Amino acid sequence: MRNIVYTGKGGVGKTTIAAATALKAATMGYKTLVISTDPAHSLGDSFDRELGSSPVAIADNLYGQEVSVYGDLSLNWEIVREHFAHLMEVQGIKGIYVEEMGVLPGMEELFSLSYIKKYNESDDYDLLVVDCAPTGETLRLLSIPETFGWMLKLMRNMEKYVVKPLIRPISKRVGKLHDVVPEEDVYNQVDHLFSSVEGIIDLLSDGSKTTVRLVMNPEKMVLKETMRALTYLNLYGITVDQIVVNRVLLDEVDGKFLSEWKEIQKKYLDQIDRTFSPIPIIQVPFFRQEVVGLDMLEKVGEIVYRDSDPLDILYREEHVNIKKQDEGHYIMKLRAPFIFDNNMEANIVQVGELMTVRIGNYQKGVILPAFLAGLRVSSANYKEKWLVVEFKKKEKDATKSE
Ligand SMILES: Nc1ncnc2c1ncn2[C@@H]1O[C@H](COP(=O)(O)OP(=O)(O)O)[C@@H](O)[C@H]1O
Ligand SMILES: [Mg+2]
Repeated sequence: MRNIVYTGKGGVGKTTIAAATALKAATMGYKTLVISTDPAHSLGDSFDRELGSSPVAIADNLYGQEVSVYGDLSLNWEIVREHFAHLMEVQGIKGIYVEEMGVLPGMEELFSLSYIKKYNESDDYDLLVVDCAPTGETLRLLSIPETFGWMLKLMRNMEKYVVKPLIRPISKRVGKLHDVVPEEDVYNQVDHLFSSVEGIIDLLSDGSKTTVRLVMNPEKMVLKETMRALTYLNLYGITVDQIVVNRVLLDEVDGKFLSEWKEIQKKYLDQIDRTFSPIPIIQVPFFRQEVVGLDMLEKVGEIVYRDSDPLDILYREEHVNIKKQDEGHYIMKLRAPFIFDNNMEANIVQVGELMTVRIGNYQKGVILPAFLAGLRVSSANYKEKWLVVEFKKKEKDATKSE
């Protein structure tokens, strides 16, 4: 199954382009499901149809769904979260654990991503179009599976090191015992949750199946946010195969007010070309009326795809590249465009086989292949949109890294 994911700044036209893409694909004969994971659902409004939390038929081959974050998974998660919060409270655990557990409330969003996995496993559709929340939330979401794996370890360890040794002292207060020893259920839930989200990043970063299309408008703030989005998506190994520039004022637009806007847009359109090329960029005009309903969406779909197939992978890109230089000397390149343009800080920490790359507000753990794990990072530089990390043999008297 092919997955096309739309994100971008709030209000730029993500839902519109996602809906138009789904409609175009369905018209071409692909069985298509479009889901919205933005809690502020507007997919139904775009199609001018009532949608629900399970797929609803919209047209031939076309189904739509507005994912509810209050589904089963988040309910289960709530049980788990409460249990651990309570456990820590009873044990008087404070400090870092409690702080880390504080990130849990936002986890509901993750479960919207679990639908992507579910539909990919079921193979009921040829195409899944995902209308995501604005970039900030979407990126935070992508960083969660990492956090989640870590969290699960923490929980398992808590069971081992915190719960068990404390059963004895607690047994003096028998009445409280059931409060503290986890119901078997909780661990089943943790496993269930974990298996539901496990592999989402793998699926999303499989560029032969999943690509992200970034929707933007020709404006300064939007350009900046789109650049940052591309940096972070590349960090997670996710392929962006198209940039859709929406609400472009056409040449025939007249009137003084609008022609001034047209000039401003022209400046940013040039900049967008320079910034994102060679990723394909497509422009969608500013229509005289709102884009609502199948007829308007069909028009948009024709503009975006003309004779091309929406399911095509429009651009392929390598995100990691490792080259041997010498015996015990390798260069690893990680794609991370625009770090400097946006004044983002980058740093790399290696502990054995785990290398953590942090850029701006996000970080990613990379499990190094065996032939690199025994070496050490000796230098890291930034060259033409790539982080270049050099690995050399560990030497007792190795000089300090550059
Ligand atoms: N090219 C366009 N011309 C005119 N109106 C548009 C265009 N693209 C989107 N719209 C309208 O702008 C509003 C916001 O679009 P939407 O797709 O919901 O944005 P987002 O999902 O990014 O928040 C909607 O009312 C939509 O009909
Ligand atoms: Mg939307």
